[in-house]
Amino acid sequence: MAPALEAALAAAKVLPILTPRTLEGLEGLGEALLEAGFSWMEVTLRTPLALEAIRRLRALGLEVGAGTVLNEAQAEEALAAGASFLVSPGLSPGLARWAEALGLPYLPGVATPTEVQEALALGLRLLKFFPAEAMGGVRTLKAYAPVFPGVRFVPTGGIGPETLEAYLALENVLACGGSWLLEGSLEEVRTKLRGLGKLRPQAQR
Ligand code: 3PG
Repeated sequence: MAPALEAALAAAKVLPILTPRTLEGLEGLGEALLEAGFSWMEVTLRTPLALEAIRRLRALGLEVGAGTVLNEAQAEEALAAGASFLVSPGLSPGLARWAEALGLPYLPGVATPTEVQEALALGLRLLKFFPAEAMGGVRTLKAYAPVFPGVRFVPTGGIGPETLEAYLALENVLACGGSWLLEGSLEEVRTKLRGLGKLRPQAQR
């Protein structure tokens, strides 16, 4: 389990996701997140700049999760760069055991009931629901609520400002992941971050 990650996500309501295509402006983005009270974020390991971005954002004081982690080799690199937690698009039992042995929070992706059951069998009950919109979004999560009462989801994939509140209103949703928040100019990002203030009265730094 990952009590610190769970508490942080519950307070944050949104997990901002960055796929770094440049390192320019990275510090500004990190500062904007911290100023808006977001201290947890995810950087996906999808570009050659990802590990350096994790190092730099960590140095600012952010808790940075490595996303799109597919195997232990990537997880080791992410950990060495300072990642505080791991996120996968799917569920990897090997990665789950590896992370557990190190005490590193792991947020695996699931989409189907079978995958949720597999995660539960591994002792994981905080799960990313991915790709959320393509897998039925709010309707699917509503159907999961009575079947998997102890599970809390972080839906991610295709969620934007129009759909965010409907997800957050669900009892089994802790927070939503999304890249939309960090897209655009720094001023646009700041405006979007400010706009989320009403959803997250308890956000902690
Ligand atoms: C992820 O890495 O989880 C997704 O790419 C994020 O989805 P989004 O880009 O649709 O927000």
